Amino acid sequence: MENNNHSYTFFFTCQRGIEDELQKEINEITNSEIDSSPAFCGVKAVLSIPLAVKVLINTTMANRIYLKIDEFEFTRNSEIPEQIAKIDWNDYFNVSKSIGIKTSFGEIQSKFADQFKSPFFISQLTKDGINQYFENKNKKRITIENKNPDLKVYQFVEGITKTRFKFIIYVDFVGKNLGERGYRLPRQKAPLRETLAGYLVRKMQLQPENHFLDAMAGSGTMVMEYLIHRYNLGGQYLAILNQNLNFDFEKLSFYRKNRELPEQVKEIIKRKEKHIGKKLKEITQDNHIWANDMDPKCIRDIVQALKLSLLSPNLKTSKQDALQIRPDVNSKNYKVFYNPPYGKRIGEEEHLADLYYQIGENHKQNYPDSEFYIIAPEKEFVKKIRLKPFLKDRIFHGGLECYFYGYSIDAKT
Ligand SMILES: C[S@@+](CC[C@H](N)C(=O)[O-])C[C@H]1O[C@@H](n2cnc3c(N)ncnc32)[C@H](O)[C@@H]1O
Repeated sequence: MENNNHSYTFFFTCQRGIEDELQKEINEITNSEIDSSPAFCGVKAVLSIPLAVKVLINTTMANRIYLKIDEFEFTRNSEIPEQIAKIDWNDYFNVSKSIGIKTSFGEIQSKFADQFKSPFFISQLTKDGINQYFENKNKKRITIENKNPDLKVYQFVEGITKTRFKFIIYVDFVGKNLGERGYRLPRQKAPLRETLAGYLVRKMQLQPENHFLDAMAGSGTMVMEYLIHRYNLGGQYLAILNQNLNFDFEKLSFYRKNRELPEQVKEIIKRKEKHIGKKLKEITQDNHIWANDMDPKCIRDIVQALKLSLLSPNLKTSKQDALQIRPDVNSKNYKVFYNPPYGKRIGEEEHLADLYYQIGENHKQNYPDSEFYIIAPEKEFVKKIRLKPFLKDRIFHGGLECYFYGYSIDAKT
């Protein structure tokens, strides 16, 4: 496997509903027409290792990246170990490494409950197959370690017909969740997931001249993700700055044995680091960002998180009721974002519905020629806004299906 142009199939996982945008982002990062397609909660793409690393350090929306090792069809579970033993495992790891194996069935689990009762059992069959492979080679057995393995294998079983199934086997390319950027404080209430905020920021199509106001900023996820997007820092910019780049692909045997790949990857990271360094200086001049929350603790947390993020924009903060704040320059270039509380407790729903109505009215009166974006856990809430949305989108926040709407205030109306 010394050919560096060799392409592999990758699966980039993401939140449900943002697959198309992630596909666009991957195309932008690779700057080429690549073979890619959105799937449920992810995007499949065929890439060389250097391009995949470029996506890894730059993506703001992918959660995890898996490298496909193999796929095969089978009828009975007893066929699995033999098929697994046919894979050249020496290309991926040697017997001294510990591995974890996880299996997912998706919807076939309920349809074929007898055959696919236990993911653990199927993982065991894979372990038997890998052991068979190594025993044939050098008579040693692998170590399975599910808590903190050196490498993680993920496998998915899909149905083809009533008796035939597809087994797809991946290895974790990164080893961690890419959404864990490193700026988050441990105690936070209902923050947006970073990778979902990355999507929302892209959908808001913020331009350099825009003033970005997060009127209910909470922990400040949108502010951070706005900065990452606006200055093209890449989701892993903090890992690069903190030299915390321990990604699992570096442990893969074919990567380690290759003379050129590690050098190519080093060069990609070096170039990114240079770009980030340049941008950090520009960020200090940025006075287009405003974070507001009526809870003073949130504002303290945002300032704290900005320190962790190593970004120091000329950030404006305020502790007001979102309905009381007014644009402090011509509101023409304002893009305001609202992520109100979800209000699941009794009595809160009515108050929240009124809050949505008031937000719309406030914008009509006080923000001519601006745009605002809002997340709502119920359609009823956005219906209270007496404006026609130009953006209607659905997102999945945690387990909750939410509405993400955008409105434009035309000064003439
Ligand atoms: C769902 S959280 C926002 C989470 C945030 N997007 C994040 O990623 O951390 C809602 C926030 O709205 C704030 N809030 C609620 N009502 C408000 C109001 N009328 N004006 C300003 N902030 C408000 C709360 O203090 C809370 O921090």
